[in-house]
Amino acid sequence: MFLTFFFLLVLAIEGYASISADHTFKDRNIGQFRELLIDSKAGALFVGSEGAVFRLWAYNINDTGDNVFVKKQLILSDSEESECRSTASDESLCRPSTRFLAFTNNLNSIYVCSSVGMRPEIRVLDSLSLQDLQEPKTEIGICVVDPTFNSTAVVAENGNPEDATSVYSGIRTGMGGENHLIYRPPLIKNGKQLHASIRTIYSDNKWLNEPQFVGSFDVGQHVLFFFREIAHDNSFGERIVHSRVARVCKKDLGGKNVLRQVWTSFVKARLNCSVSANFPFYFDHIQSVKRVDHLGETYFYATFSTSETAFTSSAICMFQLSSINHLLDTGLLMEETTNGQFSVTADEIPVHRPGTCSSNSHSISDNDLHFAKTHLLVADSISGGAPILPLRDFIYTHIDVDTLQNQNVIFAFDSISRVMWKVSHWKEGNEWKWNLIEQEKLAVTSKINDVALLPSEFFFVTSKSGVSQFSVARCSELASCALCLLDPYCSWNAVNYKCAQKTKSNERSVGWITSTWAGRISPECSAAEKLTVKETYLGDGIKLNGAKDCKWQKNGDELESLKRHTITSQGELIILEVEQTDAGIYECSKDNMLVFRVKVVVHENCARPTSVAEYRSCQRQWCKKADAYKAAINVWSDANKNNVQCKAESTNSHHI
Ligand SMILES: *[C@@H]1O[C@H](CO)[C@@H](O)[C@H](O)[C@H]1NC(C)=O
Ligand SMILES: *[C@@H]1O[C@H](CO)[C@@H](O)[C@H](O)[C@H]1NC(C)=O
Ligand SMILES: *[C@@H]1O[C@H](CO)[C@@H](O)[C@H](O)[C@H]1NC(C)=O
Repeated sequence: MFLTFFFLLVLAIEGYASISADHTFKDRNIGQFRELLIDSKAGALFVGSEGAVFRLWAYNINDTGDNVFVKKQLILSDSEESECRSTASDESLCRPSTRFLAFTNNLNSIYVCSSVGMRPEIRVLDSLSLQDLQEPKTEIGICVVDPTFNSTAVVAENGNPEDATSVYSGIRTGMGGENHLIYRPPLIKNGKQLHASIRTIYSDNKWLNEPQFVGSFDVGQHVLFFFREIAHDNSFGERIVHSRVARVCKKDLGGKNVLRQVWTSFVKARLNCSVSANFPFYFDHIQSVKRVDHLGETYFYATFSTSETAFTSSAICMFQLSSINHLLDTGLLMEETTNGQFSVTADEIPVHRPGTCSSNSHSISDNDLHFAKTHLLVADSISGGAPILPLRDFIYTHIDVDTLQNQNVIFAFDSISRVMWKVSHWKEGNEWKWNLIEQEKLAVTSKINDVALLPSEFFFVTSKSGVSQFSVARCSELASCALCLLDPYCSWNAVNYKCAQKTKSNERSVGWITSTWAGRISPECSAAEKLTVKETYLGDGIKLNGAKDCKWQKNGDELESLKRHTITSQGELIILEVEQTDAGIYECSKDNMLVFRVKVVVHENCARPTSVAEYRSCQRQWCKKADAYKAAINVWSDANKNNVQCKAESTNSHHI
């Protein structure tokens, strides 16, 4: 049963028109536009790139007026550049380029890590002016030189030892990036080093085995890292990848003797994004993750794929912080040995359970630390619920989530094919439900590098050529009330029969219908769905508006399927070579709710057209016949002769 459902979700994207950006920002001097960071309150969109950091006006990124636009160039001195070029494997790696942007100091500053002549450079900029707030410095372990490395970092301002601000990174170091580690640089306050750096043991792949990091978050007393890594080799010698969440305590200073300058609190667990069945089907490769804080709970929406190659399948899963913490705090810990993995029983766990935050990690006993060092993985996995939007042939590489009152709206992206999916996700009782609202191919000329969202307004994507700004909805294209209200950003004007983007004022005005439902067709619409009339002529072809997956009826009965009927993937009904019997009332319904109702009227009598419309129809009829003969020019002229005749007849008829 699962298979049918799963493989039904093969979407025909190719061949669909793409949507153009509302606004774009370009700069000829920039090689690649990369990281996005948004301050929704200030309407400021910060963009990292190969060459500069920008502050753009999020409501119109094309506005480069003095009061809303700032550009901060990244500079590489000539001597540094030539030195870099002489050592670099690839000269493009020498260009100064951002790798990581984050807010600090209550959104007032921006922490920027860039690769400048292959040297990691840290700057702290004023959010308004992008002026340096401190002397730029070189510091390793925070961002990578090679932009294809999947690394992550997060700035934590509270909860660290001595309340020093610090970065936490999931990163690769070494000449070829051969060391994989979760790292915190030395803690410095007022120019003084308080504590040495701390990390995972990168020579032991039980800690991290070729991890590909996708995100990191500062949550309470912990920092969480999301990544995928090699879990084990299967019996065919294939390397099996699992997705993980790992957790460290911010107060951790490492052990005194054992685990010196190494996390004493590192624990990890598998993320389970799978379709349950006798043999569960796993989406094991996490690709991206987004944190959502809503009504006192923290959620992580993550995208997964079955592999990184083409012809893969993808899905979205949601993890609750409370379940992550519960499992890491109480789950059975695996003991890893050379000949396999064994979970240990609860009574073997020492006084200091691995993963517990200690106010002074130097005081944990050597014995307990020896245990912690070899018990890093929890046996059970963390459930991500039922996969959302499982789909073949795409990789959801990026995700963003808008939190509305009655639902979360997920925006998923495939960076290579440049497709965006917009999905409603809401809770009914104890059950989460989802519904695909929109899928669009984006008019972006090259691979997407990053995405960001201005809640309820726009989403942004970066690529080589620039930054593109798209509205969260295309309401005016939704031709019926039912379709309009499925989109949480739209409301229906019952007077003008028009769909428009929801605003604070139309939400409450008379004449506007606004849905209070999530993901379903609103019952409010049934009364407002008007009967449109479509006039057609014998032999013509017509197309009736529809909705994806809607059911068509004619005069209340299921539509007979005829050779002349086609239902498009968007649910439109096409009737070719209309006959008299095609007249009637056509209804398209979805989930038993009426979406469109059209009355088709068929006019006969091509021989005696009495109106311009009939005359045109007469012409079309002959043109179609001409097409059918396929012998282009000769047949065309024959048909034209007939056509003239038809016209002549019509002229005669007027004289009679
Ligand atoms: C961007 O701004 C320029 C000049 O200010 C204008 O010519 C152009 O049409 C604008 N483009 C868009 C997509 O808004
Ligand atoms: C980073 O991840 C992407 C897929 O998410 C993968 O295609 C790419 O190979 C990874 N980069 C490296 C250097 O492994
Ligand atoms: C993952 O979740 C599925 C569905 O809930 C379950 O059937 C399966 O046993 C879980 N797998 C692991 C490894 O926990």
